[in-house]
Amino acid sequence: MQICKTISETRAAIAQARQAGQTIGFVPTMGALHQGHFSLVSQSCAQCDFTVVSIFVNPTQFGPNEDLNAYPRTFDADCQGCQKLGADLIFAPSAAEMYPKPNLTWINVEKLTEHLCGTSRPTHFRGVCTVVAKLLNIVQPDRAYFGQKDAQQLAVIQRMVADLNFPTTIVPCATVREEDGLAMSSRNAYLSHEQRRLAPVLYQTLQNAAELIKQGNTNATDIIAAMTEKITTQTPGQIDYISIVDKELLHPVATIEAPVLIALAVRIGKARLIDNIVVDPS
Ligand code: PAJ
Repeated sequence: MQICKTISETRAAIAQARQAGQTIGFVPTMGALHQGHFSLVSQSCAQCDFTVVSIFVNPTQFGPNEDLNAYPRTFDADCQGCQKLGADLIFAPSAAEMYPKPNLTWINVEKLTEHLCGTSRPTHFRGVCTVVAKLLNIVQPDRAYFGQKDAQQLAVIQRMVADLNFPTTIVPCATVREEDGLAMSSRNAYLSHEQRRLAPVLYQTLQNAAELIKQGNTNATDIIAAMTEKITTQTPGQIDYISIVDKELLHPVATIEAPVLIALAVRIGKARLIDNIVVDPS
């Protein structure tokens, strides 16, 4: 497995693989890799001849008071994990390599970024789309793998790739969870022992909401109220949002008649945790 820090080395190695007729799979990450990330790497290795994993904590997607400097970094363990799974190349650029000049060109996906995480993180998706577009231009993969854990990110990237005609297929991958249901996240490392014990309530709350819908409750306000009650009484978390949105367009729905995404963001201690579930009422 090659580890490349520069764009030119990365392009040269990928060009060689292409010339040999290999298909290219790509897994963009910010490192601190866990089983959730590794499931994406495994899928890429199973479906593509040559798998590239990027590890880059992208400054442009963090807001001024967010955790850019505190974000966990475990580079050696990340490389070992990727190598074990059969990845071919790690692209780990510096911020100066990715942003040699102050960035003046941004990609904004409208509408899909207005709700959910877009409300409290107004410049986040602009940073995500811009860095993913840059990475897709560097790697030029046949397939790129994104987790359903970040459902809004996945929908936004799918739309960007469609709107801008990137020749890459976006492959959605299921959320990987701890045994007690907590969605795996690099940010779980911020939780104290007690906060970690209570964090699975978030997924239980999503499952309860799915159950209410399956029992025939179609009123989104009622379901959000039940979810809010459970989280505020059973965790020390502060709710950023609990939303029920159209699965494709991500705008809030009042009555649940078609498949919906139920998504939440809750701050527990220093961690802002997100999770979601898709529910089809039919
Ligand atoms: P990061 O948070 O490191 O996540 C990298 C990829 O792993 C994303 O596609 C994310 O959805 C997926 N992932 C994270 N936890 C997962 C889990 N428990 N189950 C399944 N997939 C999971 O998302 C980013 O980085 C960045 O925004 C990035 C796209 C790399 C752009 O900087």
